[in-house]
Amino acid sequence: MSKRVAILISGSGSNMVSLIKSMTGDHPARPVLVLSNDPEAAGLAKARALNVPTLAIDHKPFGRDRAGFEAELHRALSTARPDIICLAGFMRILTPEFIKKWDGKMLNIHPSLLPKYKGLHTHARALAAGDSEHGCSVHEVTAELDGGPVLGQARIAIQPDDTPETLAARLLPLEHQLYAAVLRKYAIGDRSQVTVSA
Ligand code: GRF
Repeated sequence: MSKRVAILISGSGSNMVSLIKSMTGDHPARPVLVLSNDPEAAGLAKARALNVPTLAIDHKPFGRDRAGFEAELHRALSTARPDIICLAGFMRILTPEFIKKWDGKMLNIHPSLLPKYKGLHTHARALAAGDSEHGCSVHEVTAELDGGPVLGQARIAIQPDDTPETLAARLLPLEHQLYAAVLRKYAIGDRSQVTVSA
């Protein structure tokens, strides 16, 4: 029986597209829902074009009522009955209470070599630190922001003329490769480390 995968996005959804395209043939999982907190997210149209059910729950009307937004989110996910939830460019911070309800089922991709550079602006921070390498990590989602067990990483060398934009662009294809590889293993309960090199 295939594992049911829901993917949460906020924007372009390039990681979501890569995950959906990977779940074919003998892959142990299939996408059942793409959900965005932004009804205008470009990724929603891409998911529809790939025949995956979509849903948008606009977080803006909830204002500071994070619990109200998450109650709606939980209701929608409960209906989709996912075995795995992939956060893929999802830009809302989830509360520990919400995460607890899906404990052990949520993955996220973060554009840094965790535990370095949790949070935002990771490419600029790696450049500012004068790092020689950068990368991305797929990790299990826990109450600690970007702090869960890392399941895989991809590394790239930082070039002398790199900018945050060139780093992000060079890293994105590796994110796609890494996330798909980790999901395929995670779906059969294999949590051994995945390493992707440029
Ligand atoms: C990616 O860099 C991802 O690591 C971060 O959001 C960016 C956009 O991802 N979480 P996507 O194109 O929306 O998948």
